[in-house]
Amino acid sequence: MSTRKPFVGGNWKMNTDLNGAAELAAGVASAVGSDSGVEVACYVPFPYLVSAGQKLGSNVRLGAQDVWTQDNGAFTGEVSTDMLKDCGVTTVLTGHSERRHVIGESDELVGEKTRRALIAGLQAVLCIGETIEQREAGETDAVNERQIRAGLDGVSAEDLKNVVLAYEPVWAIGTGKTATPEDAQDAHKKIRALIGSMYDESAAGAIRIIYGGSMKPGNAPELMAMDDIDGGLIGGASLKADDFGAIIEAATSRV
Ligand code: 13P
Repeated sequence: MSTRKPFVGGNWKMNTDLNGAAELAAGVASAVGSDSGVEVACYVPFPYLVSAGQKLGSNVRLGAQDVWTQDNGAFTGEVSTDMLKDCGVTTVLTGHSERRHVIGESDELVGEKTRRALIAGLQAVLCIGETIEQREAGETDAVNERQIRAGLDGVSAEDLKNVVLAYEPVWAIGTGKTATPEDAQDAHKKIRALIGSMYDESAAGAIRIIYGGSMKPGNAPELMAMDDIDGGLIGGASLKADDFGAIIEAATSRV
């Protein structure tokens, strides 16, 4: 259907505990099994990266939910790319809406984090998306464009190959409300066109754009059937290995 490898990420957010994280990781590893043609990653809370990472096996990427912009040094509470790589992390989220809207990260800081991750050789999953107020004001496309331009500021065409874009409308996150497949497709198509104008057609054709916001086994197939939806970033449903496995299974329809 598409030459883009589907991508499914599980964002565990601030959930699980030491034993639960290892159990969930083991469950995801067995749900994924051998190479299904889908790229799968779990974004694990910092304290459990090492223990859960040991259970994820070689077919699931170990991901972090955030990263700091500087080398090791006097940055109390932050975590550097070197530390993450030391723990086996190969992929990080940047600009998740909870970090933008709850913690207060600016578009510029998200851009710095994205650049930093890429320079360190990590994959960056740059999250973007509008709030309900912005959607109702007709600002969805403008917000996505602003967040993408700032998030990819200074990112070369070569480094863009290590970026996945996650469109996560804020009003759909954790609410049970999902964008319709048509609305999500419309946003993804415009995002891909924007990448074409910022880089070129080949970059636009290659970049994975995944959807996040109340994706579940029941709605994943119809979302993944859309031309420009290359996978999903899953919150709540990634905390159950069976549900997450069913969403990965839905993504195999794109292989
Ligand atoms: P939910 O799947 O719980 O809506 O969360 C989506 C999300 O924020 C993934 O990053």
